[in-house]
Amino acid sequence: MKLHVSIVCVGLVLGAAALAPLSALAHGDVTPQAVDTHTLPPLGDDVRAENPYRGSSEALKVGISAYTQNCARCHGIDAVSGGMSPDLRELDSECMDQKDEGKKKACFAEVDTFYYGITMKGKVRNGVEKMPAFKGTFNQEAVWAIKTYLETRRAGN
Ligand code: HEC
Repeated sequence: MKLHVSIVCVGLVLGAAALAPLSALAHGDVTPQAVDTHTLPPLGDDVRAENPYRGSSEALKVGISAYTQNCARCHGIDAVSGGMSPDLRELDSECMDQKDEGKKKACFAEVDTFYYGITMKGKVRNGVEKMPAFKGTFNQEAVWAIKTYLETRRAGN
């Protein structure tokens, strides 16, 4: 009898543990996770207009982990959106189609500035927080590392 009771208890504890991550997902309010960027060249306080880590394999490594911990639950595993949030593989797809090199560069800078702003500030629409602000948790290095990852996930890559 005693044994039976303890099995039920273990069952309850396991059940609660299994449900906890689900309820966090449903509310979409998981706290932003800090990103360890010490392996990346430090950028200081001046915000870059364009991703300074473009093509860096170390930034890609940091970015994959940072994206998975902080963005994937809304923007999708491997950056493939399930439709609830914008598909970030498309962020700079317009720029990729630019033939003129000058225009292409300007396009990347514009997208990068937009991307940086929304990632740091988040998005509130009609008083509802659609996306949390990562300012205060992320440094500049973390934001660009994630962009470096997203650039490897563009359509056609
Ligand atoms: C709680 C869900 C959620 C999380 C977490 C989240 N986002 Fe978002 N994000 C959204 C939603 C929803 C939008 C669309 C906002 C709108 O304009 O209504 C969005 C918009 C964006 C946009 C603008 C896309 C466009 O084409 O307009 C970028 C860039 C972005 N998110 C990047 C990120 C990054 C990078 C992370 C992780 C560091 C992140 N998001 C985490 C929900 C989320």
